Amino acid sequence: MSTQTAKDASLLPLLSARRIIVCVGSGGVGKTTTSATLALLAAVVLGRRVLVLTIDPARRLADALGVRALGHDIQRVPDEKLDALARRRGITRAPGGTLSAMMLDQKRAFDEIVERYARDGTVRKRIFENGIYQQISARLSGSHEYAAMSKLYDLAQVSPPPFDLIVLDTPPTENALDFLDAPDRISQAIDSPALQWFIKPYLQAGSWSLRLVGVGGAFVLRGLSRFVGSHFLQQMAEFFVEFSEVTAGFRERAEKVRTLLRKPDVAFVLVCSPEQLSVEEALYFHERLRRAEMPLGGAVVNRVHAAGPSLPADFSDVLHRQPALRGFVPEDLRRLCDDLIRTYDEQQTLAAADQAAIADLRRHVGGISSPEGPLPLCAVPMFDSDIHDAEGLARISAFLVPNERLAPKN
Ligand SMILES: Nc1ncnc2c1ncn2[C@@H]1O[C@H](COP(=O)(O)OP(=O)(O)O)[C@@H](O)[C@H]1O
Ligand SMILES: [Mg+2]
Repeated sequence: MSTQTAKDASLLPLLSARRIIVCVGSGGVGKTTTSATLALLAAVVLGRRVLVLTIDPARRLADALGVRALGHDIQRVPDEKLDALARRRGITRAPGGTLSAMMLDQKRAFDEIVERYARDGTVRKRIFENGIYQQISARLSGSHEYAAMSKLYDLAQVSPPPFDLIVLDTPPTENALDFLDAPDRISQAIDSPALQWFIKPYLQAGSWSLRLVGVGGAFVLRGLSRFVGSHFLQQMAEFFVEFSEVTAGFRERAEKVRTLLRKPDVAFVLVCSPEQLSVEEALYFHERLRRAEMPLGGAVVNRVHAAGPSLPADFSDVLHRQPALRGFVPEDLRRLCDDLIRTYDEQQTLAAADQAAIADLRRHVGGISSPEGPLPLCAVPMFDSDIHDAEGLARISAFLVPNERLAPKN
């Protein structure tokens, strides 16, 4: 088996070699936390100039990074946050390292694409003012992912590059695969025969008036308009006619993003929880990445239940002899004892199940090696509380890049 064991697995080689790292996985597994921690590590340990591009509108990460609510603009994370990690890990900060953070505003990212590809100011203005565009740019399934990818692409094009590494956190999609399919999905939605059929009469008529639409189309549209209102239909048609101008741009961009994500200086990091379903989803995702020829760089199993040693056979007697528990009547003491043992056993069972899930993941990705060596598979324990400050990120960081890999403070 060529994967590193969870204990000595390190994402440090990945952080030092790649230019773009994309954290993927299903909602709630810890992508945002992992992205922030990886970005912080690369800045502190490797002295890289890092940008973490996050998507969740969660305040918590902003707080943890010490930036006021993250906005669509790039913000510099205060040095003291980097110092906090170095201090906590007992290392000296590598010179030159900086961390910046940005939260993607999906609507603004979409607007930027329209601005770039619309023929002139009038078309641009009509698209922006269109109610359907306003809905789509904020809500269409896949548009969030598209916007993220598009922004990543823009940032990666800046020359000379202001960042050595961009860590991309991905949206909390139900289905992690939405992320890969997004560019296609948007293109297909725009190109779909149904939509084309619907907007063709408008295109031919060269006017928004329903009266001018061909007989068949007009009949259906009039029927439809009774349900959804003719204003809606008109807006819809207007939108797709106007938008057809910029769809070529959208498609072209989707293709460029795809090419970018296949480059060897990009790596995907799979994040999952040790539940069987989550591991299965990660494996499925891995398969999709493989088929799309997008490079996998590592895996993180987050919120793993820690296993403890077995309880001594005479645990009950030991407890009964504790002077501090002398005030307990025997029946209460027995109940306390039973409860403790049962809770502990449950933890042990969960821990064993987690280990089995991790072993399963390792069996599947074990044969993979990346240019940096065997694929690192890191296990991060479940902490008692949410990770909402730099200390928390520092604690997590020890499981993504263990101490043995770090040069101690001298
Ligand atoms: N190892 C952990 N132990 C305890 N809480 C965690 C751990 N990792 C993440 N969390 C918490 O779980 C929640 C979800 O994590 P988050 O990174 O936002 O997930 P995602 O971005 O995948 O939706 C957050 O409140 C975070 O603080
Ligand atoms: Mg998130």
